[in-house]
Amino acid sequence: MAFTPLDHLRGARIWVAGHRGLVGSAIVRRLAEESVGELLSATSSELDLRDPRATEAFVERHRPDVIFLAAARVGGIHANRTAQAEFLYDNLMIGANVLRAAQMFEVPATVVLGSSCVYPRDTLQPIPETALLTGPLEPTNEGYAIAKIATLELGKMLRRQYGLRVVSLMPSNVYGPGDNFDPLHGHVMASLIRKVATAARDRDDSIEVWGTGSPRREFIFVDDLADAAVFALKHYDDDLHLNVGPGNDTSISDLAHLIADVAGWSGRLEFNPDMPDGTPRKLLDVSRLTALGWSATTDLRDGIARTLAWYRDSMDRAAPSIEPAE
Ligand SMILES: NC(=O)c1ccc[n+]([C@@H]2O[C@H](COP(=O)([O-])OP(=O)(O)OC[C@H]3O[C@@H](n4cnc5c(N)ncnc54)[C@H](OP(=O)(O)O)[C@@H]3O)[C@@H](O)[C@H]2O)c1
Repeated sequence: MAFTPLDHLRGARIWVAGHRGLVGSAIVRRLAEESVGELLSATSSELDLRDPRATEAFVERHRPDVIFLAAARVGGIHANRTAQAEFLYDNLMIGANVLRAAQMFEVPATVVLGSSCVYPRDTLQPIPETALLTGPLEPTNEGYAIAKIATLELGKMLRRQYGLRVVSLMPSNVYGPGDNFDPLHGHVMASLIRKVATAARDRDDSIEVWGTGSPRREFIFVDDLADAAVFALKHYDDDLHLNVGPGNDTSISDLAHLIADVAGWSGRLEFNPDMPDGTPRKLLDVSRLTALGWSATTDLRDGIARTLAWYRDSMDRAAPSIEPAE
């Protein structure tokens, strides 16, 4: 299984699992800049990755050169906290099935994604890659975290035991066009963009913001993450996962004010401390990625403006999937 990274993109058969999702669709956009041979994809209704036999059969039939695993059950703090069992089960199965199929059919390279929220709740800031598994997890997303950590560990063990090339990335909070804007199930950035855009449209004078506003988060624009994933595939080959983020963070309060400013809405932000804050801070130490020669290029204001424009455009088209009945 000798791997010559650039050869694999030129003329390669690349499977983006989760190609319709936030991250998967950005990876597809990024791959359009490479001379790939064939892009493979399947929706979750065509191929349920929780099914080991179906997953093996897909890999055996299509024999990809590269897999980007961007399929997962993903959600914000409310979704995670109220469906821990499903977040654990689905993500454990998806991770194990795809990696096992990659091993069985000797897929030359597989990129898997963890998340900064799977590091211990209270840990060094900025968080080095070596902080994984050094302390208790944030209780609101324990199910998701355990599944993601198991996937990363399986990737590491398959590398060591079978020489399988697995590149594991640990992104910070991701946002951008194509995010889940459901106020209950989406992540904080998309939920806030939706609330502010709706308030601006309806001329409301206030919105509710969950939590105290004090937690700090590091946001990476999704096209930057996709670029980092292609970069890591070409340039990174190590057991240890690689942190991916812009290397700076912002408080939820400052974020809400920035979104309001970008949207041109000057109403009141009402913080609701009865809703959970989650981990107080999770800033990644991205020095290993920077040393390899990659850094994020989209600044937060610009990324928010692009995401807001996409969301407003979607509202205009009145797509039912992103504007569900309240
Ligand atoms: N969003 C973030 O802030 C963030 C942060 C760090 C890491 N990540 C990681 O990035 C990856 C992608 O996240 P995302 O935000 O892009 O999620 P997303 O927008 O919810 O997309 C997830 C995709 O996974 C597919 N999927 C879900 N269950 C499946 C199943 N059982 N079988 C086959 N496909 C299934 C869905 O396919 P269909 O559309 O066909 O149903 C969907 O397109 C995940 O591994 C996540 O952990 C995300």
